[in-house]
Amino acid sequence: MTKAAKVIVLYYSRSGATQQLADAIANGIVQAGAEPLLRTVACDDQAACARDLVVEAEELRDCAGLALGSPTRFGHMYSGLQKFWETTSAEWLRGALVDKPAAVFTSSSSMHGGQESTLLSMLVPLLHHGMMVLGIPYTEPGLQQTTAGGTPYGASHVEHAAGSKLSKQELTLATQLGLRLGQAAVKLQQE
Ligand SMILES: Cc1cc2nc3c(=O)[nH]c(=O)nc-3n(C[C@H](O)[C@H](O)[C@H](O)COP(=O)(O)O)c2cc1C
Repeated sequence: MTKAAKVIVLYYSRSGATQQLADAIANGIVQAGAEPLLRTVACDDQAACARDLVVEAEELRDCAGLALGSPTRFGHMYSGLQKFWETTSAEWLRGALVDKPAAVFTSSSSMHGGQESTLLSMLVPLLHHGMMVLGIPYTEPGLQQTTAGGTPYGASHVEHAAGSKLSKQELTLATQLGLRLGQAAVKLQQE
């Protein structure tokens, strides 16, 4: 029997918006027949990190794919996530993530508050690790219809006045990204 393709959904969320995206992506991964592992990183605000386990190096080695999510912080990812990537030299040296599919997601308070710079810069450590990056194609109707988040670079949410609740298109686009990632992970999984 082939083992389930495990896809890590690694994120940080202080007030729940990025977590909503993480949950939608995990749902899409399940729809693809893969197994999502919702994980976070060690952080200075334990209340924000209470729900999910801290990711372990062994999980990076064993996974078949990874989604990385962060709130937009002055146009970049949360520093704790960056710090985490700086602990992954051993995995980088052994090529633990090479040729595995990856995707990114973010939440910001304002529409033009730096989502695209955050998403694109989050891809950089993943590319250094040799991952194969997936985005959201324009064949997804939600990309044209959204009046809030959802980008070709990754899933996103714009809070505006809505708080952490995702709009219909944001939810659909995040779920579809998870589905794409899960399908790629299943197809590419190395024995
Ligand atoms: C230090 C800090 C920097 C932030 N920088 C930005 C920013 O550059 N652009 C923006 O629109 N929102 C910014 N925000 C707001 C968060 O990105 C936004 O509230 C996000 O949805 C929070 O996600 P979370 O609920 O997952 O924690 C910032 C928040 C903090 C605390």
